[in-house]
Amino acid sequence: MIKRVDGPGLVTGAARYSGDHPVEGLVHGYLVLSTIANGTIRTMSAEAALAAPGVLAVFTPFNPLRYAGPWVQGPGYFLYGPNRFPLQPGDREVRHHGQVIGLVIAETFEQARDAAALVETAYDVRRPNTSFADGIPNAVVPPPLTGPPVVDVLEPQYGSIDSALAASAVTIRASYSQRPEHHNPMEPHTAIAAWDADGTLTVHSGTQGPLLHAQEIAVAMEVEAAAVRVISTHVGGAFGGKASTWPPAVLAAAAARQVRRPVKLALTREQLYSVTGHRPAVVQDVALGAARNGKLHAIKHDCVSTRSNVSALYNGVSGYSLGVYRTPNVHAGTRVVTLDMPPATIMRAPGEEAGSFGLECAMDELAHELALDPVALRLANDADRPPTNGDRYSSKHLAECLQVGAARFGWSRRKAEPRSVVDGEWLVGYGMAAAVYGASRYEMSMRVAFRRDGTVYVGGATADLGTGMRTVLSIVTADSLGVPLSRVVSELGDTKLSPGPMSIGAMAGAVGSAGSSSVAPAIRAAAKAATDALILRATQHERSPFHGLAPENVRYHDGILSANGRSVEFGPLLTLMDVDGVTATGTSVPDAESGIVMSSFAAHFSEVRVNQFTGETRVARMTSVVDAGTILNPAAARNQIIGGLVWGLGQALLEGAEVEPATGRIANANFADYLIPTNADIPDIDVHFLNYPDTIFNPVGSRGLGEIGTVGSAAAIANAVFNATGIRVRDLPISPEKLIPPARTRKD
Ligand code: MOS
Repeated sequence: MIKRVDGPGLVTGAARYSGDHPVEGLVHGYLVLSTIANGTIRTMSAEAALAAPGVLAVFTPFNPLRYAGPWVQGPGYFLYGPNRFPLQPGDREVRHHGQVIGLVIAETFEQARDAAALVETAYDVRRPNTSFADGIPNAVVPPPLTGPPVVDVLEPQYGSIDSALAASAVTIRASYSQRPEHHNPMEPHTAIAAWDADGTLTVHSGTQGPLLHAQEIAVAMEVEAAAVRVISTHVGGAFGGKASTWPPAVLAAAAARQVRRPVKLALTREQLYSVTGHRPAVVQDVALGAARNGKLHAIKHDCVSTRSNVSALYNGVSGYSLGVYRTPNVHAGTRVVTLDMPPATIMRAPGEEAGSFGLECAMDELAHELALDPVALRLANDADRPPTNGDRYSSKHLAECLQVGAARFGWSRRKAEPRSVVDGEWLVGYGMAAAVYGASRYEMSMRVAFRRDGTVYVGGATADLGTGMRTVLSIVTADSLGVPLSRVVSELGDTKLSPGPMSIGAMAGAVGSAGSSSVAPAIRAAAKAATDALILRATQHERSPFHGLAPENVRYHDGILSANGRSVEFGPLLTLMDVDGVTATGTSVPDAESGIVMSSFAAHFSEVRVNQFTGETRVARMTSVVDAGTILNPAAARNQIIGGLVWGLGQALLEGAEVEPATGRIANANFADYLIPTNADIPDIDVHFLNYPDTIFNPVGSRGLGEIGTVGSAAAIANAVFNATGIRVRDLPISPEKLIPPARTRKD
């Protein structure tokens, strides 16, 4: 098994995350957040805070920070929509609870935090608009973000999806809902910003896209992009929550410029909930029309998502149903309710996470209605061609995922009749779901170098969010050049590693399950270019044994150059030629092949045990079979899928923000009350990869697998809960009180 190249640093604590870097003269920031959700700040008293020990500055709308806010329109604007940055002159409007309204800078973190508590704020309070339920009747179609919010694909004889549904032999309709969810990375957003005398800015800040982050900060600070260096060597989890730029990096940079000291600004766990983005709440109505044999005739999927008045993103989940099953009639619609809520952003499998919950639960309801096996129902509707967009798949083995998964899991032992397996206090059930996640890859540039000490260097400005990307860099390089993994030195997470300007997609870095699939072909290209350059050098240098030969007559194999019966390893060769290294850059650009749909696929199976008396649900085991092309690093890939399934378990059973209607406050903004799975909640998980190379997608044949584990897994659990109990919980999370049977009288 391949071990993580960064493993020792991660487990010994030697790895430095953004807040861990020692910086000379560092001072600390602490944010002051609003305690209302809607209103105008009348006054803020900074005197007591300013007089507190160690305090250097108190920034408020009355003593603002100087930068190009409050709507910073950097490149991230085009990917994630606008985000609002506070503390601008005269900007006294409060738009959500927990909005940044002040920043205290002091010599120590504790001094800044204690002084922040002394800032008194008086507001003119307006009634906040915080009720999602109240807004749903008046929800509106939003401006398109990633695609049209309403799509209909209908056979000519039907004027609407409703007439197609009406012409179906069987229809089921159900409404599914979930609350806002939060990424909760282990490492809360933290930035250290330091300006040099020459006007360049270095920011240590954990991010998914160092290049994008640097450009955003540069736009906010009104300096050249080249003047900002972002260092993000280790990221303690991100999940979409560190894809765009949030206040800490920008405010730390602006404050550092004004107090003329390096500033560290770390969010507390609670602040994370309102200062950075979340996954919006969503309600979805799903209707399926089918023939008695289970063949789908129509899918109608409508959703309503919350949207914040300080950001643009919403949870458009219904589009998921456009690309899964073969059906002649399909409708996907999205509407939004705008609330006085903290900003939203992308979060692991944005859209697919909830959309698959709706569709895959509805498929289970249909199977139950028709008395068909849920796996057989999926197989009967498996799409051999893309249902709505495109002519063919690059590579698709969903049916095999379903069949292999059913066999590995022991699906045949499932009792179709709900509530038929009882084990003492526990009701036992099986559930499953299919999953689809679109495969993307972006332009990416990587650098590869042969070095005279016999090592190979690989580096680029992408990020490792904890996923094992650095190990992937090493693996692909070792594999491309035929050298042992132990001789590869990899580096990432620093804008200075970028070989040059990049497209916006390349700058975004590790998002959309596209990281490895983008990086791997770029490394292959760089390795090829470096090999060519090494051979050329060897034929030109007079001390080289290959001097004077035509390059095409020199062969490179497994780190060794050979020609005319002579062979030399690249390390000794470079030493002989007195050359430190030979470096080349490789860029890989995805080819736009129209008509070909590229996706990862999976089938998830779960066994749950529900306590008859307490309603507690325990997931006993899960099996996941994944079709994601070539698997570059089996251990890391398995780890990614397990992580995705853990997210599905959290979504199904535990997670959800509680918004206090009167104030807009997130009442459970902490790890005690916002429940996420712990190790004790996670059962044995069996992950299996089909490993069919998808060389239409990229030369390496690997598709993404960061998000496919999250898609469908909550439905697999919810469907198992139904099979165990006969209770269909459509509002997540499936908390115990939703499964407790009505009170009974004991007869003894
Ligand atoms: Mo992922 S939500 O694209 O970081």
